[in-house]
Amino acid sequence: AQNAREALYIVSQYAAGFFSEQLWNGSEGRAVGLSYFKERGFREDIIRKFELGYSPDSWDALINASKAAGHREAYLESTGLVVKNEKGKLYDRFRGRVMFPIHNFTGRVIGFGGRTLKTDKNVPKYVNSPESDIYHKSNVLYGLYHAKKAIRDLDNCYLVEGYADVLSAHQAGVENVVASSGTSLTTEQIRLIGRFTQNVTMLYDGDAAGIKASLRGLDMILEEGLNVKVLNFPDGHDPDSYMHLVGAGAFKHYIENNRKDFILFKADTLLKEAGNDPIKRAGIIRDIVESIAKIPDNIKASVFIRECSHLLQVEERILLTELNSMRAAKF
Ligand code: CTP
Ligand code: MN
Ligand code: MN
Ligand code: MN
Ligand code: MN
Repeated sequence: AQNAREALYIVSQYAAGFFSEQLWNGSEGRAVGLSYFKERGFREDIIRKFELGYSPDSWDALINASKAAGHREAYLESTGLVVKNEKGKLYDRFRGRVMFPIHNFTGRVIGFGGRTLKTDKNVPKYVNSPESDIYHKSNVLYGLYHAKKAIRDLDNCYLVEGYADVLSAHQAGVENVVASSGTSLTTEQIRLIGRFTQNVTMLYDGDAAGIKASLRGLDMILEEGLNVKVLNFPDGHDPDSYMHLVGAGAFKHYIENNRKDFILFKADTLLKEAGNDPIKRAGIIRDIVESIAKIPDNIKASVFIRECSHLLQVEERILLTELNSMRAAKF
């Protein structure tokens, strides 16, 4: 089994090299893929650092090149790089897409995300590698290999949604950043961050889905005993679009100065909807105490209860009673 896994790593690395070669030296890749990244404002050093590539718009470009290089079909199929149709014929999964290799935290390629260049809403924006013996989506953080040193040194990890967000943060000089690859953050991903730092700052997209996912994610992070701050971007921006809008310096300044601790984030986000309705306000206070009740450390929890009391003008004693009954209900 060890050898089979090794074969999957090797064929994945081969494919990353193939896609990268297409991007830099293929005529289609240069005309379509490289110019796409350039139009989005990505610098060449960032494109190289993340080994970005291009998959030609063909059913068999990767298969043919891989076979000529001596790779076995069976391994290409187990990585999901090629797919078998009903007639038993193999075809390339990724066609006409810009390619983001996904590395594990030791730097080996384990899978890919491929982004369409089309604006057609019926084409899925991203196609990703399926689960394989070397790729388990829920255990992977995109960008961790390129971020782990900075995460340790700075003792903080920025958590974003997507591939482009990681690239743009690096381009702005922010290297302690990883992506959950979508809004469904997992406990495994949080534990992986926890091996490098106890401090997470969520930078999800500033749309409704991103805000909802921030609320869900912060509870999960608290439950794992990590500290969490949250930041949202204005007008539906994500970190990538905001960085290209305001530039590297202003982006860095924004994320360093606008993070909110989770209580303030929840209060701001939820109170916006509730206005002055006292019943709704009470519901929000209970909601915030529910988040505090997830914190395993009692001393930390009591500090947040105090903050909540000041912020929402509720007696600390009442919040503590609520906290204790929520905790009692958990056991
Ligand atoms: N994602 C995915 N499959 C999709 C949509 C999204 O895997 N069909 C993942 C990708 O990792 C993507 C992330 O979720 O990067 C965030 O999604 P979204 O915000 O929709 O895309 P962006 O990363 O903003 O993509 P781009 O900036 O390239 O448009
Ligand atoms: Mn496994
Ligand atoms: Mn999004
Ligand atoms: Mn986004
Ligand atoms: Mn984006």
